[in-house]
Amino acid sequence: MARRKIALIGAGNIGGELASLVARNELGDVVLKDIPEKADFARGKALDLMQNGAVLGYDARITGTGDWADIAGSDVIIITAGLPRKPGMSREDLLSVNLKIITDVAAGVKANAPDAFVIIISNPLDAMVYAFQKLSGLATNRVVGMAGILDSARLRAFVAEAAGVSVKDVHAMVLGGHGDDMVPLLRYSSVSGVPLEKFLEKDRLDAIVKRTRGGGGEVLKLMGTSAYYAPASAAVEMAKSYLRDQKHVFPCAAYLNGEYGVKGLFLGVPARIGKEGVEKVIELSLTAEERAMLEKSIASVRNTVAETKL
Ligand code: LAC
Repeated sequence: MARRKIALIGAGNIGGELASLVARNELGDVVLKDIPEKADFARGKALDLMQNGAVLGYDARITGTGDWADIAGSDVIIITAGLPRKPGMSREDLLSVNLKIITDVAAGVKANAPDAFVIIISNPLDAMVYAFQKLSGLATNRVVGMAGILDSARLRAFVAEAAGVSVKDVHAMVLGGHGDDMVPLLRYSSVSGVPLEKFLEKDRLDAIVKRTRGGGGEVLKLMGTSAYYAPASAAVEMAKSYLRDQKHVFPCAAYLNGEYGVKGLFLGVPARIGKEGVEKVIELSLTAEERAMLEKSIASVRNTVAETKL
């Protein structure tokens, strides 16, 4: 079987970590694409990662480029292009600058790899996924945003630390937009199926919910730039589920066609990812309080999407 091809649009911090993970997992060959002015940077990073393969022993060809033609025939495309946040900025502050960038990216993908499964990480996430799909015209099941795995990973890590249990046993669900009003669902979270309340007091859990909502901002403030290890791992898990038809159920920004009472918007929901892309959206029953939190998050996503004027 021919090797699969994974194109990474944006050779920054997340792009580099994505390339490393894709290669280590031997998911396929990697094309690291950046704007023409940064093509040499992408080529340099690709060379470093290619040589890393000799040390670690992975079979993956990694190339850098500034040319859209080089992504032709990609099976998966992961988009991180766009500016990351600076401390004090919200994800929404990036809208106008990143909308221009995603417009170019959508044209490049549409012209060169219209059959790819596309995972978007650029912020503001939900609006960027919406804009990319509208502008590229790719089928809605082949376009998805990475946020929920990351947000729920943050929740899981905080719970594991506070409860003194293995993070591998902590399961969590976060719904809604990838913004400060995301909806961590404690009722659908557990330690090996045991409700979180068995391990942690309510005020402790409330503090964890709050910290999860600001989880990206916390890293940003400390580092002066956005997180990249966990975001990259999360997107690679989604890519793997698609390429290997694993049918994992992940929280991710999927297109809604009436589910959760929403039509025509991408929003963080549990979805099954397999060889058809986003194959199914799973609807959870919500309490009135959870529903109200979700409505607030939907309203925020709608506002940001409206600003794209698409
Ligand atoms: C974060 C960025 C990737 O949450 O959105 O860290």
